[in-house]
Amino acid sequence: MKIVRSPSVMTAWSEGLQRESVRIGLVPTMGALHEGHRALIRAARLRCDALAVSIFVNPTEFGPREDLTKYPRPISRDRALCKKEGVDVCFEPSVQAMYPEGFQTTVNLPTIARRWEGEVRPHHFSGVATVVTKLFGIVRPQIALFGQKDFQQSALVQQLVKDLNLGVEIIVHPTVREADGLAMSSRNVYLSPDDRILAVTLYRSLRAGAERIKKGIADGKSVQAVMRQVITAEPAMTIDYLGVCDPYTLEPLSTVTSRVVLLGAVRLGPVRLIDNVLVTAPRRRS
Ligand code: PAJ
Repeated sequence: MKIVRSPSVMTAWSEGLQRESVRIGLVPTMGALHEGHRALIRAARLRCDALAVSIFVNPTEFGPREDLTKYPRPISRDRALCKKEGVDVCFEPSVQAMYPEGFQTTVNLPTIARRWEGEVRPHHFSGVATVVTKLFGIVRPQIALFGQKDFQQSALVQQLVKDLNLGVEIIVHPTVREADGLAMSSRNVYLSPDDRILAVTLYRSLRAGAERIKKGIADGKSVQAVMRQVITAEPAMTIDYLGVCDPYTLEPLSTVTSRVVLLGAVRLGPVRLIDNVLVTAPRRRS
């Protein structure tokens, strides 16, 4: 497995392979790899001939009061995981290489990025959209994998690729969970043992909402109230948002009629948890 730090060396590697019609896959990450990342890497491995994983803690997607400096960076462990999973290149650019002196262009966000994460973390998606565009420009993959865990992020990337004709096939992989249902995340290591037990409450809340929808409750506000009740029963948790939304536009739904995504974000101690569940409402008799 190659470790590449220079963007121009990375591009040269891809261009060399593309001359031989090799299909290149990319899994963009910020490192601190866990089973969720591993699942994306394995799914990518099956779909391409040459696989690159980028490990870059992107400063522009962190807000001023967020955990950029504390973000875990276990690089040797990450490289070992990549090597074991048959990754061909770990692309590990420096901040200086990605944002050199004079860097000034950013991507203007689509409306799906406005609500939810976009509202709570105002700079986040601009940083994500810009770095993903840069990574696609540098690595030139035919396919790239993203996790459903970050539902709004994957929707944003799909819109970005379509609107800007980036020519990358985007595959969204289902969320990988711990045995109790907690969505895996690089930030879960910051949960205290007590908070770790409580953390699954977010998923329980989304599941409770999904159950109501499956039972025929069509009023978006009622579904949201059910989800809220589950969270507020745990005083250690505070809600950033709980949404009952259209999975394509990410706009809140007052009436649930077909496919719905339930989105949630909560704070627990120093950790912010996000998760989502997709659900299909039963057909309504007319
Ligand atoms: P990061 O949080 O490292 O996540 C990298 C990819 O792994 C994302 O597509 C994310 O949705 C996916 N992922 C994380 N946890 C997952 C889980 N439990 N199950 C399935 N997939 C999971 O998201 C980012 O990095 C960055 O914003 C990035 C896209 C790399 C741009 O900097």
